[in-house]
Amino acid sequence: MRVGMLTGGGDCPGLNAVIRGAVRKGVSAYGHEFVGFRDGWRGPLENDTVPLGIPEVRGILPRGGTILGSSRTNPFAIDNGVERIKDNLAAQGCDALIAIGGEDTLGVATKLADLGVNVVGVPKTIDNDLSGTDFTFGFDTAVNIATEAIDRLHTTAESHHRVLVVEVMGRHAGWIALHAGLAGGANIILIPERPFDIEKVCAQVESRFATHYSPIIVVSEGAVPAEGGSMSLVSGEKDSFGHVRLGGIGDRLASEIEHRTGKEARAVVLGHVQRGGSPTAFDRWLATRFGLHAITAVHEGDFGKMMSLRGTEIARVPLSEGTAVLKLVRPDLYEEAEVLFG
Ligand code: F6P
Repeated sequence: MRVGMLTGGGDCPGLNAVIRGAVRKGVSAYGHEFVGFRDGWRGPLENDTVPLGIPEVRGILPRGGTILGSSRTNPFAIDNGVERIKDNLAAQGCDALIAIGGEDTLGVATKLADLGVNVVGVPKTIDNDLSGTDFTFGFDTAVNIATEAIDRLHTTAESHHRVLVVEVMGRHAGWIALHAGLAGGANIILIPERPFDIEKVCAQVESRFATHYSPIIVVSEGAVPAEGGSMSLVSGEKDSFGHVRLGGIGDRLASEIEHRTGKEARAVVLGHVQRGGSPTAFDRWLATRFGLHAITAVHEGDFGKMMSLRGTEIARVPLSEGTAVLKLVRPDLYEEAEVLFG
């Protein structure tokens, strides 16, 4: 068999581990050949490929990013996009495609599978917001980076008797904020699933100072105040999947807190540092296993499936199960953490 691979959407530590796992097993166990498509769905749309074999995957396990490149290209937003992909897969002699991505990339894969393309999906996102799997790879790395930042911010906040607001990624789901906030001992965690009450936040800030400690607030980029509105929007700019570019809630929150409490407040935006660099051991373990199982699914002709972590086992679920609804933070998980606020 000849198998195409692509990585789409925001990059994420562990992508290269998936590619390596699939290629190594595909070549040695099944005798398959591979071709890499560059920059997500742009590759098969424009027939832009790179060689992909054992030499290309040597040494990439610990490397962040993706050797295939990525983009947020949406073939369903482009005239004849689907036909072009089908034609180019045929021109490359591809019998199957492994698509590694998040809600958008796998959303495209789901529709293509329905249209008869032999595709298998691997879930990735630092946001951990894909359904159908306990965890996505990249999340653990992002949480570790954010936790280390929070640890460091505690000491400088204490020295200056300041509020420090740490903005982490998470457009719709607060998984990074919740896990890193708990691990780093944050005093307040604000997530998109729970619009926040600024007066309550300020009261918690005051109570923290009253015990002679400086508060650390972890806020997801998609968090909004309870009054509603669009505090976190910096511009109306959208990508080809219609997502508005976020950012700015950390700064807005810091200035609001400073204004209301009179306490000095600063914001730190962790941004893309959460997505860069080498994956943690957990993410390498998970991503490698996803790659090994994805090529076996392809070999067995089990298309239209997504790899999934269930406990410690890798399972296969229908692609649509991963992309139909986002996996949001459950209220009880947030309430568990809330006891520690203030
Ligand atoms: O989808 C993952 C993610 O990290 C989101 O949390 C974030 O909103 C988005 O990517 C930003 O990505 P980019 O700046 O690459 O568009």
